[in-house]
Amino acid sequence: MKVVAAENFVDPSFSADLIGWQKVHGRHTLPWQNTRDAYLVWLSEIMLQQTQVSAVLGYYARFLERFPTLRDLAAAPVEDVMAQWSGLGYYTRARNLHKCAQRVVAEYDGVFPSDPLLLAELPGIGRSTAAAIAAFSSGRRAAIMDGNVKRVFARVFGIDTYPGEKKTEEAMWRRAEALLPEEGIEAYTQGLMDMGATLCTRSSPSCERCPMQVRCVAFNTGRTKELPVRKPKKATPEKHAVMLAIVDDGQVLLEQRPPSGIWGGLLSLPELDGHVAAEDDDVAEADHDALLRAVGKFGEMESYERLSPVTHVFTHYKLHIAPYRVTLSRRLALAAEAGFVWLDSGKIADAALPAPVKKLLLELLGDHNAAQQRMF
Ligand code: ADE
Repeated sequence: MKVVAAENFVDPSFSADLIGWQKVHGRHTLPWQNTRDAYLVWLSEIMLQQTQVSAVLGYYARFLERFPTLRDLAAAPVEDVMAQWSGLGYYTRARNLHKCAQRVVAEYDGVFPSDPLLLAELPGIGRSTAAAIAAFSSGRRAAIMDGNVKRVFARVFGIDTYPGEKKTEEAMWRRAEALLPEEGIEAYTQGLMDMGATLCTRSSPSCERCPMQVRCVAFNTGRTKELPVRKPKKATPEKHAVMLAIVDDGQVLLEQRPPSGIWGGLLSLPELDGHVAAEDDDVAEADHDALLRAVGKFGEMESYERLSPVTHVFTHYKLHIAPYRVTLSRRLALAAEAGFVWLDSGKIADAALPAPVKKLLLELLGDHNAAQQRMF
């Protein structure tokens, strides 16, 4: 039988300490505080999604001058709403704000519902925003959960899995519900926001002033820098290419790459067609027949030599290049339309080549030239 440890997130001292701290050290004079007007609260919460208080202040004041009531906002053309929002970013918020105002007028006679579940059905209002609006405008007990709260919880409770992961996030919501105080939801909710924004900051938390210090797992185990756990990096995909440096009579064969995609429009070395088999960072290898076939279009292969592999790191993947130096005993004329050119090796340095290919060629030809010079 699988035994699952029972969660017991209930701890009334958490909210008591937070409320006590908020009353003395928290923020009390923000323009959307000290009111139960749901329009004023809702507008602030939407503006404060993804935007800091300092950036919101001016917009909030100007917006309310232009749209003093919910009905003014609902009756305005959406263009006017967008114009007032201009510069604040995340413009879906403004379109949803307007839609939401119209819905509240049409469905609730211009009065926001106080039930967070009903609020969360309106455009632009998610579960956390609904809880904040309900708490601040109606004193409803409802849990908020945003990036700041996740950071506070991760540190205080020592949650060492990534908060963006579904299971962790769900557990954080359950914890948030269990920690809600019986009374004082406004100071509690504001306290969580204030702590996250002013004390428990991402890079330099002020633990010496924190009311949670004695219970904070991160502080007491020296892990404030590690918590919350950062988003796990996806493994970088690895690709492989076999490139042919066909050298003949002081010239190198180059291919014009298609206009889009990596190295779009640049000249590069011809590549062996098809899927190049190689696992992750293994080095790809061309077989003799594949080389013969590929080189056969350009002439008769005289010799080939494997060169040291090169890895080039792009933003989204790594390209492992397995280069071959090939010489010809006879050169065929190039098909006119095929997009291949023979370039004098002296012109490589100034040609439109991808950096790793240019480097590879300069090293190869440099060595070759040096070798030739030694011979004479
Ligand atoms: N961020 C989101 N809601 C907020 C609020 N009511 N006060 C300060 N910052 C916030």
